[in-house]
Amino acid sequence: MQHHTTVGIIGGGPAGLLLARLLHNHGIDCVVLESRERDYVEQRQRAGILEQGTVDVLRSCGAGERLDREGLVHDGIELRWNRRSHRVDFPALTGGRRVWVYAQTEVVKDLIALQLADGAPLLFGAHVHAVEGADTDRPVVRYRHEGREKTLSCDYVIGCDGFHGVTRSAFPEQARRTYERVYPFSWLGILADVAPSCEELIYAHSPRGFALHSMRSPEVSRLYLQVPNGTDPADWSDERIWDELEARFAVDGDWKLERGPVTSKAVLPMRSFVTEPMRWGRVLLAGDAAHIVPPTGAKGLNLAAADVIVLARALAHLKETGSTALLDAYSDTCLRRVWRAEHFSWFMTTTLHTDPAQSDFDTRLQISQLDRIAASPHAAAELAENYAGLEIG
Ligand code: PHB
Repeated sequence: MQHHTTVGIIGGGPAGLLLARLLHNHGIDCVVLESRERDYVEQRQRAGILEQGTVDVLRSCGAGERLDREGLVHDGIELRWNRRSHRVDFPALTGGRRVWVYAQTEVVKDLIALQLADGAPLLFGAHVHAVEGADTDRPVVRYRHEGREKTLSCDYVIGCDGFHGVTRSAFPEQARRTYERVYPFSWLGILADVAPSCEELIYAHSPRGFALHSMRSPEVSRLYLQVPNGTDPADWSDERIWDELEARFAVDGDWKLERGPVTSKAVLPMRSFVTEPMRWGRVLLAGDAAHIVPPTGAKGLNLAAADVIVLARALAHLKETGSTALLDAYSDTCLRRVWRAEHFSWFMTTTLHTDPAQSDFDTRLQISQLDRIAASPHAAAELAENYAGLEIG
């Protein structure tokens, strides 16, 4: 039997789940199809920084309760280079904007709980293999669930199925343009059962490569090291990781990096990617399905949230007025913000990492840029505004 829904959402990560919540609150029906099982989705380690605009939308849709209890408010970050450090103060430089440390997995858990309590259907283990009829009035999603082939017909299909998702392939090849950069380094990320050695995140440039000190809670630290592409995490013993982190964070003064048991280790590739347009007919893309940023600017989750805010507003406008004007503007509206975030993420990445092919000249330019941020409130404000997040337009 063929089912119908107004909005078929492919992917139950933060983009798909937040969209489903926003549509539910507007009285628009939808179905979420997620290929993985619930446990997997709730455990997967991802980003940890939420912009003001992301926090505002989570609160307004009823998903802010635990975030307000357990999230850590941060009013700045620390940059380190040449054994010196400089703090960038977000509220002072942005007219009061700040960020929250609250892991993506926690956002996902909160949204799943809400969805299962009173939301639209959310199917785990639903493997979508085709999206057809993008340029018809009734696009169709074909998927396999509990051993059976199923079909969902929709007014609109939204691909929130990530970089490897199938939805993008519903756009004709000749209608799509992609832009991409793959970086010549990766991140080795760890979780450790030790109190963070800092109150705010530390982004460190060093001759040995980039390092980042982040956190998940007052008891759990999250740290990253730049490593060569193709690195096997098994080659990095806990001791080697801590020694290398210590060397890269080295600073004059009496700061000390506390060590603790490493509970997880993984290597993440670094990529910039944009596909244009983000809409074809009645199929629209949101989040990582349309764009990837390297994690240095902490923009990925926040960009996904911005996409679905714009999309929910457009679908609500259509329901209330019958006008597709906002939906027609969706791709252009989102892409302006996407390219700003692409630029910022590229800037943070290339300013702070050591490209294996870089010359001493390139390194001096990086240092000059960091010195400039420390010397000029204008340069610092440019970083702060982008990091804390621009208004969702
Ligand atoms: C994280 O806590 O996982 C994190 C924080 C800041 C980044 C990237 C990742 O830029």
